[in-house]
Amino acid sequence: MKLQSELDGKVVVVTGGAGLIGKGFVRAVAENGGIAIIADVDETAGSKVRDELAADLGSVNIEFIKVDITSKKSVRGMIDSIISRHKVIDALVNNAYPRNENYGRKFEDVTYEDFCENVNLHLGGYFLMSQEVSRVMVKQKQGTIVNIASIYGFMAPRFELYEGASFTSPVEYSAIKGALLSLTKYLASYLGQHDIRVNAISPGGVHNNQPESFVKQYASKTIVGNRMAETDDLTGALVFLLGDSSRYITGQNIVVDGGWSI
Ligand SMILES: NC(=O)c1ccc[n+]([C@@H]2O[C@H](COP(=O)([O-])OP(=O)(O)OC[C@H]3O[C@@H](n4cnc5c(N)ncnc54)[C@H](O)[C@@H]3O)[C@@H](O)[C@H]2O)c1
Repeated sequence: MKLQSELDGKVVVVTGGAGLIGKGFVRAVAENGGIAIIADVDETAGSKVRDELAADLGSVNIEFIKVDITSKKSVRGMIDSIISRHKVIDALVNNAYPRNENYGRKFEDVTYEDFCENVNLHLGGYFLMSQEVSRVMVKQKQGTIVNIASIYGFMAPRFELYEGASFTSPVEYSAIKGALLSLTKYLASYLGQHDIRVNAISPGGVHNNQPESFVKQYASKTIVGNRMAETDDLTGALVFLLGDSSRYITGQNIVVDGGWSI
């Protein structure tokens, strides 16, 4: 059997498409024949990524649309605008990373208010996007949703990695990503009757100029590669889940972490 991963003409919305991982996803969608829509709250970064990738790939199939995934009005405006141009939304990649200004504190310093706000923004935003976009998919009688979770959605952080670093793995993150894996199964079960598939990808840590000692320690725990993930490492799983080769797969979580979590 020849793998069917081409996304010819499929309209794929990538939230957070202007960010580190999102940019790689947008590129992969366009490279595989899809129409990639960068759906991001950051207009400057979103337009820049669109222009860069369009020039690099010589592709007209990359668009930017401003959206705040935590605002129903904004999400509905985004959907109307896409439908008026393309008539369909074939796929949604929930990949944005909203957080408030206090995000990233150590457990004992996280206030109840900050905890709730960050869960609302991130998990709530993924819920809202899924609910609104799936209304369109139900009418179309087809669609695919991919939620970007994390290894920290199913395993505990290894806090010794963060010793001496200026950052930690926030408690909200584990709560959000754990719940997102449950939400993925719930939505897969609920929406399956409409031929809508819902899956998750759980990346390991992605290399992004972290301090050398952190990168070294992290890399030493991977089974293949002996390195942190690069964004390109994640795109194969995404294209697979968006394409027809995965048509009988739903409610699943593909872990892409070089074996870090096994
Ligand atoms: N970077 C990693 O190591 C890593 C590892 C595992 C999982 N992840 C997950 O991958 C996803 C992307 O992470 P990243 O590292 O690329 O993040 P990033 O910060 O580089 O990019 C996130 C993007 O989301 C956008 N965004 C923020 N709030 C938004 C909102 N309310 N509405 C719309 N867009 C909004 C930002 O403008 C930004 O472009 C997240 O879900 C993250 O949890 C990241």
